[in-house]
Amino acid sequence: MTRPKVLVARAVFPQTVEKLAQHFEVEANPADTIFTKPQLIERLQGKHGAFTTGSERIDADVLAACPQLRVVANMAVGYNNFDIAACNAAGVLATNTPDVLTETTADFGFALMMAAARRMAESEHFLRRGEWNRWSYDMFTGSDVHGATLGILGMGRIGQAIARRGALGFGMPVIYHNRSRLPADQEAPIDARYVDKATLLREADHLVLVLPYSASSHHAIGAAELALMKPSATLTNVARGGIVDDAALAVALRERRIAAAALDVFEGEPSVHPDLLTLPNVVLTPHIASATVATRRAMADLAADNLIAALTGGTPPTPINAADLQHRRA
Ligand code: GLV
Repeated sequence: MTRPKVLVARAVFPQTVEKLAQHFEVEANPADTIFTKPQLIERLQGKHGAFTTGSERIDADVLAACPQLRVVANMAVGYNNFDIAACNAAGVLATNTPDVLTETTADFGFALMMAAARRMAESEHFLRRGEWNRWSYDMFTGSDVHGATLGILGMGRIGQAIARRGALGFGMPVIYHNRSRLPADQEAPIDARYVDKATLLREADHLVLVLPYSASSHHAIGAAELALMKPSATLTNVARGGIVDDAALAVALRERRIAAAALDVFEGEPSVHPDLLTLPNVVLTPHIASATVATRRAMADLAADNLIAALTGGTPPTPINAADLQHRRA
């Protein structure tokens, strides 16, 4: 029997490729080329599965042009690079990597929030530039994290993990807004208060964004929302670029309408809005919130397990659309 064929669309751990090669004929991409859409379609010809990351867009054109493709396995929890409606229509299973990155991503989100509040990046750059020549009483004074109000927009697994850190570790009152309110038994241990979005924006001392990107969350934070925030507040985005209007944020930061921001994700990344690059009061990191060795290994393993199960008659551990598929491509 011939073995299914899969494309590993980006460079990954050699162990992941070896694991997949035990089951499949694998075309890997050790050069880590980011394929254009025509290149991706060309590489996917004859492939039954694809191991993808956020950089591969799987839409109706790709699915129509690759009729043998049966499963797309994202090595990411976010899957806005997949057109799920098109996958459903084509009968293609899509999978992602939830849970394994929750705590790691929450650690980083909390660290970024603290870095913004306590001006860590800005003061470090000052020191490296050789400008530090004396202690002074008001040098790089920021705002406290402990006891301050933590606002979470998007109270899914990662949002809850950040809220736990704030409430249990730093004595922060937690307020949140989400599509739906959490059950009382999930709110209670962290004393989280569900509020409308405007209240969240007005009351948070440190607002962290952890919601998925979709057409409805595009520019969920723009000029109008930033105008509601406290001038002393910080904004942290570990979710997706496009949720924040980066141009509007740059204006708000320059005019000190909010105190500081910390961003791990950007509209149009890896490009970063040039105005953000010039501002001292924003911490900028290159989409690394889940980047610990252990977690990236776990994500790669889970994506591989999804692909293996889907193409060998098993049950993929973390499907996105299994329940919505009327039919599956054979
Ligand atoms: C990273 O951004 C992910 O969605 O896993």
